[in-house]
Amino acid sequence: MLICHRGLSLRAPENTLAALEAAIAFGADVVEFDIQTSRDGILYVIHDETLDRTTNGRGKVADMTSAEIDALDAGSWFSQAFAGERVPRLSVFLDACKGRIGTYAEIKAADPARVRDMLAARGMLDRAWSFSFNEDIRAQMRARVPDLRRMVLFKHTGSVERAVAAGAHILEFHEGNVTQERVAQAREAGLVTQMFYAGDSEAVFENALRCGIEQMNIDEAELFRSVEARLMVRA
Ligand code: G3P
Ligand code: CA
Repeated sequence: MLICHRGLSLRAPENTLAALEAAIAFGADVVEFDIQTSRDGILYVIHDETLDRTTNGRGKVADMTSAEIDALDAGSWFSQAFAGERVPRLSVFLDACKGRIGTYAEIKAADPARVRDMLAARGMLDRAWSFSFNEDIRAQMRARVPDLRRMVLFKHTGSVERAVAAGAHILEFHEGNVTQERVAQAREAGLVTQMFYAGDSEAVFENALRCGIEQMNIDEAELFRSVEARLMVRA
C-alpha cells in the first residue's frame, strides 16, 4: 500500500488540495497530512507551526485567525504554476478525500476528538488512522478516541510487544530499525506494518519490500513503484 507523505509532495506543494489530487491521480492508497489549529479554532492542513515556509504569510498558525489563513497563498513558494493554492481547512481536505483515498492524519496541534468526529461525520473512519509526535496528544488519542485507529513508531516503543501492549493498530519502522524478524513478528501479532522514508535510495525501498513491509509512507512514489515492479519481475 502506498501512502503519499504530505500528498504527492514532490509534484505539488505539500499538504494542499493540489498535492492531494496528484496523489489520487497517481493511484496512492492513502494520503498523509498534518494538522494545526488557528487562533479561532479552525483545523488546517499544514505541516509547520508557522506559516513562513509554505505560504506567503508570516507567524504562527495558532496566532492567526481563519480569515487571515484563508487569504494566504500556499502554492507560489513551490512553483508559480500553483499560485493561488490555499492552506486547506481540514473539513475541505476531508471532503476531497472521501471515497477516493484513505487518510493518515498526523496531528501536530489539534484536539484528536475533533479530528475523529470530522472523519466519523463523513463515514471515513474505516480507511483512516492517526498519529502524533506529541506525547500528550498520543495519550488523548488513546484515552478519548478509541475508535480511530492509531499508529505508533518502533522508534518509540522499541519492541513489537510494547506496540501491541500500547493497543496500536499500525507499527511504523524507519530504514535503520526495519528487519525481517520484526516485521514478521508484528504481522503475526496482528499489527499492520509500515515504513516511513523520505529519501530516494532504491536499496532502502528494496530492503523494505524484502522485509515484508505492507505500507510505505514516502515522498518518492514514482521511484518506489519502479523498484517494486523490478522486484516483481525478478521474483
Ligand atoms: O509517519 C511519520 C511521518 O508522517 C512524518 O511526517 O511531518 O515528520 O514529515 P513529518
Ligand atoms: Ca507528517
